[in-house]
Amino acid sequence: MNTIQIEALVKQMTRLEKIGQMTQITTSFFNVDGAKATGTASRMKDVEQHKWIVGSVLGKLDAASMLRIQRDYLQHNRLGIPLLFMTDVVHGYKTIFPVPLALSCSWNPEVLRRTARVSAVEAAAAGFQVTFSPMVDLVRDPRWGRVMESFGEDRLLLGQFGAAMVEGYQTDDLQQPDTLAACVKHFAGYGAAEGGKDYNTVDLSPLSLYNDYLPAYHAALQAGARLMMAAFNTLNGVPATANTWLLQDILRKQWGFDGTVISDWGAVKELIPHGVAAGSEDAARLSLQAGIEIEMMTTAYIEALPELCEQHPELEQKLDEAVTHILQLKQELGLFDDPYRGVSEAREQEMLLHPSHRQAAREAAVQSMVLLKNQNALPLNPNHRLALIGPFADNQHLLGPWSVDGDPNHTVTVLEGLNQQGVHVQSLSTDDNRIDEDVLHQAIELIQQSDTVLLALGEREEWSGEAGSRASIGLPLDQLKLLRIAAAAGKPVIVVMFAGRPIELAEVAHHADAILMAWFPGTEGGHAIADILTGRSNPSGRLTMSFPYHSGQIPVHYNHLNTGRPAHLLTQEKRYKTQYLDVPNESLYPFGYGLGYSEFAYGDIDADTCELSIDRPLQVSIPITNNGEYTGCETVQVYIHDRVAEIARPVRELIAYQQIELKPGEKARVEYTISAEMLGYYHTDLQYRADPGEFELIIGPDSRRGASVMIRLV
Ligand code: BGC
Repeated sequence: MNTIQIEALVKQMTRLEKIGQMTQITTSFFNVDGAKATGTASRMKDVEQHKWIVGSVLGKLDAASMLRIQRDYLQHNRLGIPLLFMTDVVHGYKTIFPVPLALSCSWNPEVLRRTARVSAVEAAAAGFQVTFSPMVDLVRDPRWGRVMESFGEDRLLLGQFGAAMVEGYQTDDLQQPDTLAACVKHFAGYGAAEGGKDYNTVDLSPLSLYNDYLPAYHAALQAGARLMMAAFNTLNGVPATANTWLLQDILRKQWGFDGTVISDWGAVKELIPHGVAAGSEDAARLSLQAGIEIEMMTTAYIEALPELCEQHPELEQKLDEAVTHILQLKQELGLFDDPYRGVSEAREQEMLLHPSHRQAAREAAVQSMVLLKNQNALPLNPNHRLALIGPFADNQHLLGPWSVDGDPNHTVTVLEGLNQQGVHVQSLSTDDNRIDEDVLHQAIELIQQSDTVLLALGEREEWSGEAGSRASIGLPLDQLKLLRIAAAAGKPVIVVMFAGRPIELAEVAHHADAILMAWFPGTEGGHAIADILTGRSNPSGRLTMSFPYHSGQIPVHYNHLNTGRPAHLLTQEKRYKTQYLDVPNESLYPFGYGLGYSEFAYGDIDADTCELSIDRPLQVSIPITNNGEYTGCETVQVYIHDRVAEIARPVRELIAYQQIELKPGEKARVEYTISAEMLGYYHTDLQYRADPGEFELIIGPDSRRGASVMIRLV
């Protein structure tokens, strides 16, 4: 089907058929095993009568159900327009990868691309065609539960990793039956919810939007993503779902997006409690006018648009535009040629949890974990007797939130992972919240019989994810009690930490000899953890989000602005400067930070002239030596600070990074090309350019350390 045929098809459609295409319901309407209508979907009974004209479904599916639903649907749909199947494949379908925040700590777009590819192969085999991923919401508040879905606090990494996922899902040929169309979300600013409370108000200045929040959505679209999801939140007072500035001026006009725009779950009718719509009719009109083309999980469109369009014929054009985009998407996915997209139960069975997918999950998990502390406790001493204690010692709930179709029964636990590598341990599983006195006594006994204590601590899966906001992000008190008991025994204590967000780790860092941040590592979690603990793999993950000492410090992100009274400059002043009286200004573990089993030494920066201009970039390089005993991977990070600009600029901002693998004793020179473009930012006129003048250029292992030189843009 080509553009002309799509136009002809739109002409044949009745108004109701068009509105049907713009309505999304759950697969539960088509009797899929295990598919439940939850939330607003359970109040959508009236839509039953329209189910043969709705354009898309979301929710549980398998190959057999997809084949059955599509066949029935095509028999009922007057024009034979195939149904579109969507879902949330966020970090894997059946083979679950680490949560996105963890994946981002690989600092390796290739890892994101590969995991998205595998996810697409599996989900497409089960009948899906669209995934609601990647989420590229910039987050500076780890209390927000959805931080686990994000790639952290830096706009450059967010954009690059989002783009890599889009490429992995879609490839360059969406017609192939093992691809998924990617839906970028949540447009825009959802990660800046006030107080880290989900769905909350977002207020961002145009400069902050342009410089920090919007670039990642744009980058993911430039990688070819075919859908965009509007966010739940208000942005500067106007709900994103009804935000014409966002959905028209920025998305369509400035960025030239020609794909499909979908609302978030129930968000069209949420315009009523937001207080900008009096009822369904208003909600439908505002959303349509702003540019929402598919209404997810409420029925304002189907209830109100037939009548509204009758009264306001000019709205009909909006329907046509929306339906054209939706049909184009179906065409791009090859659905008009093969509505079943080659789905078969045999392919599904072959693909789900394929051994090569599990291997990719294990490698991704190894690359995602971040070694935060290590005082000679790791790798494990093979002669030591090991006590493995805690809520995650032998726990299969390592998949993390948004692993909708993952099955914990396939997950490798820490205990299994260690045992399979021949590490024999005595283990004791505990509760994550209340650890009884008698369990603590058992723990003490076990610790006494061991040489090293391995504590598997952390947050339960449902403590992060959607609606998983927490006001304080420390460990439960009983887990800290267990840690204190272990530390008091005077034996090396290693903590493996599970969570979907940065955790307050000050006390853990005080007691533990080593801390490995394992996040929610997915199906192969236990294997990957054992790989790192035994030294079979050298940890190389680096944080993409700062870890605060204390929740009261939030937001604490590396790329903040200086005030007029920066504490680090006013060293003689005791009080009247920007500081907390009770906790440090800095994070406990900064953005970019992470250890390995090797030691990398950085030499001096070599810059040819220290000068660059718009058409003459600057070459800089730095020698790096592996002084350790292990082959290791170092992420060499480049930051700038624009010393005098039109607006206050971040104290540091990441502009480039490279990973190099070096053998023990090996030395290499890492080279970068610095262009004027990389030094630019959006000015008060909202135009992007770089200011001539001096910049500090810093190259180092994280956002806090590094060698620096002054460079000048002429
Ligand atoms: C979430 C979206 C998700 C959608 C569909 C919403 O609650 O905010 O991220 O894609 O549900 O499951």
